Amino acid sequence: MSTDRPSARPSRATVPAILARKGGEPVVCLTAYTAPMAGLLDPHVDILLVGDSLGMVIYGFPTTLPVTLDMMIAHGAAVVRGSRTALVVVDMPFGSYQACPADAYRAAARVLAETGAAAVKLEGGREMAETVRFLAARGIPVMGHIGLEPQQVHAVGGYRFQGRDEAAARTLTDDAIAIAEAGAFSLVIEAVAEPVARTITERLTIPTIGIGASPACDGQVLVAEDMLGLFPDFAPRFVKRFGAVAAEIDKAVATYAADVKARRFPAPEHCFRPGRPATETA
Ligand code: KIV
Repeated sequence: MSTDRPSARPSRATVPAILARKGGEPVVCLTAYTAPMAGLLDPHVDILLVGDSLGMVIYGFPTTLPVTLDMMIAHGAAVVRGSRTALVVVDMPFGSYQACPADAYRAAARVLAETGAAAVKLEGGREMAETVRFLAARGIPVMGHIGLEPQQVHAVGGYRFQGRDEAAARTLTDDAIAIAEAGAFSLVIEAVAEPVARTITERLTIPTIGIGASPACDGQVLVAEDMLGLFPDFAPRFVKRFGAVAAEIDKAVATYAADVKARRFPAPEHCFRPGRPATETA
């Protein structure tokens, strides 16, 4: 069978294409958890990250820890179905990869096979280098994640800005180098001051993707719902609100409620009438 059939579909970004962006045009990344949101974000981003932040954003958990592998697979598959051109990366949830490289491989292989995503992301520094090497050597592209690691929330006692003194900055840099040398194709750096993020970005040959880690990184990632303004009461310093979605929803729903109560909705054009096709909208 011929493999060179012309396709109307633009092709997806690939892992080598993201690697090749090192030091070039910044990589644009946003989280997505559902098919419709993936479809809206896809034309504008290089990477859609199915983050385990979905535990908080979608499910209302207080941390990412209750998120399961099955949840990540269900949402990862939805994001792949809803998108066309972005590279889709799926977070490995807490407990699915930390025990040993073989466990990590089994979980990551399920993610790639059952979602159609191209890569996984996992948190950790030097302690995870062996696992990253194991996965990368067996054909599983890995995005690393250092700095603030939300899955460590109980171990470190909260969500804290990282690399505060010289020793901590050196540790972070060593962690970044270990993950890159193990074969990760990119590295998320979260909640780290600019000088540390700059040093790491200069030392690595893979793209760094910052979240609260300054423009010194090779790209940026945000939780889409945060930058869209879905959570008016959540305003961390590193999030810029590019939209006011919560206010739009409030206005739309208030208008809907008023229209229902006043019997303005449904109007005649929203009602079925004998003799008119059911799909007619007006
Ligand atoms: O879970 C997530 O959404 C993330 C990003 C914020 C980097 O890890």
